[in-house]
Amino acid sequence: MKIPLIDLVAQYRSNREEIDRAIHGVLESGAFILGPNVAAFEREVASYLGVGFAVGVASGTDALLLTLRAYGIGPEDEVIVPAYTFFATAEAVSQCGATPVFVDIDPQTYCIDVSQVEARITPRTKAIIPVHLYGHPADMSTILDIAKRRRLKIVEDNAQAMGAECKGRKTGSLGDAGCLSFFPSKNLGGYGDGGMVVTDDPALDETVRKLRTHGWRTKYHPEMIGFNSRLDELQAVILRVKLKYLDAWNKRRWEIAARYGAVLSGDKIGLPSEAPYAKHVYHLYIVRVKERKALQEHLRALGIASGIYYPLPLHLLEPYRNLRHPSGSFPEAERAADETLSLPLYPEISESQQNTVAKALATFYQGAGA
Ligand SMILES: Cc1ncc(COP(=O)(O)O)c(C=O)c1O
Repeated sequence: MKIPLIDLVAQYRSNREEIDRAIHGVLESGAFILGPNVAAFEREVASYLGVGFAVGVASGTDALLLTLRAYGIGPEDEVIVPAYTFFATAEAVSQCGATPVFVDIDPQTYCIDVSQVEARITPRTKAIIPVHLYGHPADMSTILDIAKRRRLKIVEDNAQAMGAECKGRKTGSLGDAGCLSFFPSKNLGGYGDGGMVVTDDPALDETVRKLRTHGWRTKYHPEMIGFNSRLDELQAVILRVKLKYLDAWNKRRWEIAARYGAVLSGDKIGLPSEAPYAKHVYHLYIVRVKERKALQEHLRALGIASGIYYPLPLHLLEPYRNLRHPSGSFPEAERAADETLSLPLYPEISESQQNTVAKALATFYQGAGA
């Protein structure tokens, strides 16, 4: 591909010496799991997001799972999730034995449609997981208001939105807990798996800390059944370097998105937008098109990568067939799954690469491929 969807090697090269030095420091230290870099990185993320506590875990999926477990969510419970997100959001609910209850999405932001949440609350509902999909914040003011009135926990899935803001406050810091992913392609990504739970609640912090190491505070003295879900020193040291550049990278992402917005004109392409309350961090640049398959082929022939996030909404995935939501149950989620396409966007993409993408879309709609 001449223009990839994301270029992680270009990012590594932009601060290679600093990263190499940091990695060597860990190799020479002999401390690889839950050492001083994990502790320092936890403090740095807590300070960046403005929360009291942060606990490094093995992945974003585990961040969700350990949080729900820490809240005691189990087989009798329901948790509200958007019908359109990465599978892990609902998978973590199911891993607890609880039932994910789907809510359709807002077609503008692709996040949970807050006007439909209350109708899905039952006496079994324990929590809501808003997902800040593609880097755009969900409407947290309304969600927090519902949660307060209905006494529900809010667990933000902030995997795709590190650095995004809702009315000037960082996403991930607004609910009872925020769950982060450091999967390599994320806005703050490591060179392997990693995740974090952030919170202002000392009890949640303490329980997640226990859960990540076999349920113990004191080695070999478990207090509960836990997990092996630890962040390692190599990931932490890499992420500590990268955290320093996150705001600059997110600013670049925003500028690149604005530039796409200016050059991708035409009523055939639905462009992403930013709600008045939101600061978007463009984890992905998502357009809406009717002729997606043909357009993808056209781009591929020109050496331009594109991606589909996600081809199916949650209720139509195999593991959720048992919940018996037929096609048509969540129309906006289904339409998004049919129409959305991700275009190349990463902080290192050049202006000429962006122009090439824009030109390829223009030739498609001028008849070359439509
Ligand atoms: C919305 C969302 N939730 C959860 C996750 C899970 O994160 P991880 O891949 O680190 O387990 C991801 C990442 O892939 C995600 O995009």
